[in-house]
Amino acid sequence: MTARTSDIEKAAEVLRAGGLAAFPTETVYGLGANAEDPAAVARTFQVKGRPPSHPLIVHIGGAEHLDDWVHDVPATARLLAERFWPGPLTLVLRRDRRVPLEATGGLETVAVRVPDHPVALALLSTFGGGVTAPSANRFGSVSPTTADHVRAELGDAVDFVLDGGPCEVGVESTIVDATGETPTVLRPGGVTREDLETALGRPLAVHSTSRVRVPGQHPSHYAPRARVILVEPETVVAEAQRAQELGRQVGVFLPPSFADAPVKAHAVVTVPGSMAAYARGLYGFLRELDQAGCDLIVASLPEEQGLGLAIANRLRRAAGPRPTD
Ligand code: TXA
Ligand code: MG
Repeated sequence: MTARTSDIEKAAEVLRAGGLAAFPTETVYGLGANAEDPAAVARTFQVKGRPPSHPLIVHIGGAEHLDDWVHDVPATARLLAERFWPGPLTLVLRRDRRVPLEATGGLETVAVRVPDHPVALALLSTFGGGVTAPSANRFGSVSPTTADHVRAELGDAVDFVLDGGPCEVGVESTIVDATGETPTVLRPGGVTREDLETALGRPLAVHSTSRVRVPGQHPSHYAPRARVILVEPETVVAEAQRAQELGRQVGVFLPPSFADAPVKAHAVVTVPGSMAAYARGLYGFLRELDQAGCDLIVASLPEEQGLGLAIANRLRRAAGPRPTD
């Protein structure tokens, strides 16, 4: 879906005036601010309820603008930018002074990406500068993949929501630390590890998901209201039924190989067999089960290859200990 030109101009105007405009990308909706306006960037953190030490991604309109925002770009980073931009790949590089420390949480590095969405690209070109954008959700909760999700989550706290239809990829970008000659994956996402390794011609290091190494990578993140438990695919039906009998309002992520199994639960989502469809639907499914009034979601992990790696990462975090635990 494309957006009306007048809406794109309106969103650009909001950004120029120091406001916040939510906009679609191929991954999830972002909460945009003028990257060079420290006050606007600071408001992003307030609206999300996110600690100021958690850095933001600067969105730019094309790889040709990269050197306006970073310096000392290694050859491997150039190669990745050339191969995957526009696309769901974020590169962490050395910050140019143009990027305020408010955006980087005080770090000397900055995360940059070129989104692969016609509406995002039109907004970036109309606006003309860089746009910081975290996912347009409250801190710790599920990322929005439609304009309605953004409105439901942020309401009047955002000055304008640019509607570009549902997001194609559905999980966030892959974040790669590209400051050195050996890139490291900091967050699995829309570009698969296999694709990165093919482009680089060598294996990649991936940070363990169990260690909080990077600011903003907490164990509990991407979480619905309902508690999430992860079990083996063969036991999803039995576990769900047991919890339902104990009085829980159970939502089930039914694995594709059990699609026809009868299951006694409050609400059931049958997980798509294709990883692309699963990633696209994931956050919507979690929202759907919350809205149905579930207090517990029983799910299993997909195979951790291709997009399955990003899906498993988000499910693990959704199932992680909550700040109130
Ligand atoms: O797909 C996406 O990446 C979406 C869309 C809107 O572009 N954005 C997104 O932003 O997911 P956010 O703020 O929810 O997640 C960005 C993450 C941070 O939590 C942090 O882990 C990492 O990017 N990050 C940002 N700057 C960094 C830096 N300088 N060093 C290491 N990690 C950084
Ligand atoms: Mg986020």
